[in-house]
Amino acid sequence: MSQLDVFRLDGRVAIVPGGGGAIGSAMAGALAGAGARVTVVDVTEERAEAAAAALRATGAEVLALGADVTQEADCERIVAATVERFGRLDIIVNCVGGGAGKVLFDAQEYPRDAWDWIYELNVRSTLLATQAAVKAMIAAGNGGRVLNISSVRASLGINAGYSAYVAAKGAISSLTRQWATEWAKHGITVNAIAPTFVDTPQVAMLLDDPAFKAGIVSRIPLGRVGGTADLTGAALYFCSDASSFVTGQILGIDGGLTATQ
Ligand SMILES: NC(=O)c1ccc[n+]([C@@H]2O[C@H](COP(=O)([O-])OP(=O)(O)OC[C@H]3O[C@@H](n4cnc5c(N)ncnc54)[C@H](O)[C@@H]3O)[C@@H](O)[C@H]2O)c1
Repeated sequence: MSQLDVFRLDGRVAIVPGGGGAIGSAMAGALAGAGARVTVVDVTEERAEAAAAALRATGAEVLALGADVTQEADCERIVAATVERFGRLDIIVNCVGGGAGKVLFDAQEYPRDAWDWIYELNVRSTLLATQAAVKAMIAAGNGGRVLNISSVRASLGINAGYSAYVAAKGAISSLTRQWATEWAKHGITVNAIAPTFVDTPQVAMLLDDPAFKAGIVSRIPLGRVGGTADLTGAALYFCSDASSFVTGQILGIDGGLTATQ
């Protein structure tokens, strides 16, 4: 047996809400590449199917589902469909979120509708999808893995109108620790990654501004923003037996940014 076998996910089943997105599709690809069967969920079945088709082309077993994971009934449905198709559910990687660059407002005037939208997209999506998944994991009694996506913004302010996003990601980090504490007795670990800017369409509007990007990169010791491939190794660690004794942790994937603060 190779030391690398602890990272394998053969026989495991994962669900990836937001799996049609930039980071989500990379996560789904990594899980499938390690041997997991994967359900890719996104707002429309077409969007999920596009990511799923690319994975099936590599030989992976993938189910594509359209769902709005800010709705409880949809979350229950995607979990039930996953268990029906694959017979179990072991892993959830919550990749729905973001929106920060679309609603930038001064903190003293941050509008409530924008605040609520960011919370729905980031916190409610993670909360409801995880509740549905974890209920199935607890019922099956096989333990499980929950991986959330927080952000360096959970712990670092940024002078760019980010009030709701920093608060939402702070909530994701706090929930990660809280859930880890509550669900350890079921053998379910809960961890999060906290990236700095990852070069994806969601942040293209910000990173396309050379002055903004230069300011960001100048503060990152490793001298660049992240790419989706920078996140997948951590995902395999947190979703596999390699991290069996690790829970409630928030791993910065930030080129050293938070080390400088
Ligand atoms: N891109 C970055 O720089 C960066 C940095 C740190 C953290 N993050 C976090 O990573 C996560 C993914 O970001 P991304 O850049 O891949 O974004 P993305 O927009 O490419 O992916 C998000 C996916 O979620 C889907 N989605 C949105 N609402 C949904 C809903 N209600 N139900 C089901 N699916 C829904 C979208 O259609 C999209 O495919 C977010 O939580 C984001 O905050 C991103």
